[in-house]
Amino acid sequence: TVTCNGEKFKIFITKEQIDERMNQLGNQLDKDFKGKKPIFIGILNGAFIFLADIMRHVSIPCEVDFMKLSSYGDEKVSSGQVTELKHIDAKIEGRHVILIEDIVDTGLSMNYMVKRMKENNPASVSVCTLLHKKEATKYDVQLDYVGFEIPNAFVLGYGLDYAQEGRNLSQIYVIDNEG
Ligand code: PRP
Ligand code: MN
Ligand code: MG
Repeated sequence: TVTCNGEKFKIFITKEQIDERMNQLGNQLDKDFKGKKPIFIGILNGAFIFLADIMRHVSIPCEVDFMKLSSYGDEKVSSGQVTELKHIDAKIEGRHVILIEDIVDTGLSMNYMVKRMKENNPASVSVCTLLHKKEATKYDVQLDYVGFEIPNAFVLGYGLDYAQEGRNLSQIYVIDNEG
């Protein structure tokens, strides 16, 4: 177990499980985007670790850019509003865009991102998220690649934070309510 901002968390998805899933997703992306030179757009901050790992499991030519959103701030529940802190610099008109997220929870952030990308007339917009909390998702989102479907519990590590802490943990942890 680990402690983050005074709360206890227990191991949930191991490094080995993450690595195995990354191999599968990388191979799938290679097949689906062959000859399309996709641009991966990571949604900061949470996506930075997953983005770095998934890109290294892709062997076709590709590019990268970043968008920065915030909706949780330092809380465990969404504020219900998306704040855009940084926009992409790349021109995505006519390009195949792959949005990369660490987690789709309520779906608010991804719902916002897909709409925002489509304003620039990309050839396609695909969504790749490491984690998906199906039961918590209430906004309409299209999910093309999902690493793991998870229950509705607060998770930490591998890019995911609790009040900005814990992103450096190399495995994924879940809040330990009994601990
Ligand atoms: C988290 C997470 C996703 C989003 C998912 O980001 O990284 O981007 O919330 O929640 P949703 O589906 O309810 O929108 P957060 O706002 O905490 O910013 P961060 O990535 O900088 O941690
Ligand atoms: Mn995020
Ligand atoms: Mg966060």
